[in-house]
Amino acid sequence: MAKIGMFFGTTSGSTRKVAKMIKKRFDDELMAAPLNINRTSVEDFSSYSLLILGTSTVGTGQLPGVSADSEPSWEEGLQKLADVDLTGKTVAIFGLGDQSRYPEQFVSGMRGLYDFVVAKGANVVGGWPTEGYEFIASKSVVDGQFVGLALDLSNQSGLTDSRLDAWLKQIAPVFGLPV
Ligand SMILES: Cc1cc2nc3c(=O)[nH]c(=O)nc-3n(C[C@H](O)[C@H](O)[C@H](O)COP(=O)(O)O)c2cc1C
Repeated sequence: MAKIGMFFGTTSGSTRKVAKMIKKRFDDELMAAPLNINRTSVEDFSSYSLLILGTSTVGTGQLPGVSADSEPSWEEGLQKLADVDLTGKTVAIFGLGDQSRYPEQFVSGMRGLYDFVVAKGANVVGGWPTEGYEFIASKSVVDGQFVGLALDLSNQSGLTDSRLDAWLKQIAPVFGLPV
């Protein structure tokens, strides 16, 4: 079975697109196909020792889900995963946002995932510098850096590939990616 599971939540498909870009860099033996969190079982989520979790930010700095959108997503997914134990597991997070339209809540959704997995005992890797973005505030900045890779497909789509490359290189020692 693949060691790495990747789960995402999305409203209009951009986070799914990035999840697929990431999956392309890993073979099937190492990483399972990315799965929308609203189609995931607790058993499936719990079966990987390494997890990559992706989310957009919606509403005002929220995770996608029925209260901010119409579809069940991370909000409901995290409720479903309430009893999960992530002790000994390693998690890397990526988040999509829009720094020019939502500069006060830029990629804040990642914080919801971060707080959840930390509370469940996971070790989080893949923190990312705040340089190169123009924003005012983000809940996802902890100790001066983003808790995961911040991507802005609306304003900086040209940087997505190089940011992904650099981030994957950073998490490669843990995630087993050949670099
Ligand atoms: C109604 C709405 C609210 C949003 N709120 C935020 C926000 O608070 N912070 C942010 O960084 N981006 C925000 N965004 C931007 C989205 O996160 C961004 O467009 C993202 O790429 C969408 O990805 P998805 O299609 O996977 O959901 C918002 C977008 C919409 C449509």
